[in-house]
Amino acid sequence: MSWRIPLFDLDYGPEEEQAVLDVLRSRWLTMGEVTQRFEQAFAESCGVKHAVAVSNGTVALHLACLGAGIGPGDEVIVPALTFVATAACIRYVGATPVFADVVSENDLTISPASVEALITPRTRAIILMHYGGYPCDMAAFQALAARHHLILIEDAAHAPGAEWMGARAGSWGQVAAFSFFSNKNLATGEGGMLTTDDDSIAAQLRRLRSHGMTTLTWDRHRGHAWSYDVTDLGYNYRPSEMLSALGLVQLARLDANNQHRRVLTALYHELLAELAPQVGVPFAGHAGNSACHIMPVLLPANADRSAFMESMKARGIQTSIHYPPIPEFTAYRETSGGLDGLPVTRAVASREVTLPLYAHMTQADVREVARSISEILRAR
Ligand SMILES: Cc1ncc(COP(=O)(O)O)c(C=O)c1O
Repeated sequence: MSWRIPLFDLDYGPEEEQAVLDVLRSRWLTMGEVTQRFEQAFAESCGVKHAVAVSNGTVALHLACLGAGIGPGDEVIVPALTFVATAACIRYVGATPVFADVVSENDLTISPASVEALITPRTRAIILMHYGGYPCDMAAFQALAARHHLILIEDAAHAPGAEWMGARAGSWGQVAAFSFFSNKNLATGEGGMLTTDDDSIAAQLRRLRSHGMTTLTWDRHRGHAWSYDVTDLGYNYRPSEMLSALGLVQLARLDANNQHRRVLTALYHELLAELAPQVGVPFAGHAGNSACHIMPVLLPANADRSAFMESMKARGIQTSIHYPPIPEFTAYRETSGGLDGLPVTRAVASREVTLPLYAHMTQADVREVARSISEILRAR
């Protein structure tokens, strides 16, 4: 299907093509010097000591859990309203995800009050997902973590470049995971990154991403080592040099692209208040500087969401849903208890629709989407 206004789109130019060509011509395709440069630049951009590049955001979350020392018997609290990988990583390490509610219809990030009510003697950590690029209430979570001796892990897949009190997403938790999937603000197709200020966690993450080996093919290629030991049960979670080359170029575009997303988001807020006031537009007045990854709205309670999305499709406008709540999935329903005790998630999840938002979207596109919403809802 070719959309007139897609949900997301890449912002790629000749620089991305050149960067990949340069890697191909260098004849070194797997994790090497370009990946090292990407890691350094990413760490600097987040204001952290270490960034560790991996092959996607899901494995970044898996390694984040291992780096934080989470294992069998532990409970980890996560929002119910997130992508399934935020919870799956907890199960990968034999621990149990416990699902918390989101704050309100205006704030779809995980609720500190809901988390606090779920803490048990087995609770080890909280995974904070900065929904839509909007920072979670970091002041509340840092205080709560200190009070209960819990580890904070960030799922910052939506939030590269987001800021709160002068610090960036990826620098708030003990360890943070980013995704560079095609629809993300920094997109390399697949790809991911871990950030941390902790030297020993960083060293562990580096070992685990490459089979637990003490030296790498790149070290041996450069003549720095002949052999290796294996000190951990590790994985092959390495990125390719092509991914890292794309990442370096995309990182250079990130701040300007995020700023444009903020301008478009403000325009959506303004137009929807005027043309479709019955639509809820979360995150009005949210603290911090969002990366504005997605543009969620809440349809009126009596609206038919599927029919609405079909009508937008008929106009060539792509929409989506973020997210079907994890506790309602077949693989989670029985153990999680569904949405009982999660009233806000229950109230918003069936009404949420995500509108198009991407770096080269125009203000005219936003006007067309807002006008279409108004016309479709009025026709019902
Ligand atoms: C919130 C969130 N967490 C984790 C992931 C997983 O990232 P990836 O698709 O790179 O494995 C995604 C991406 O799709 C995401 O949106």
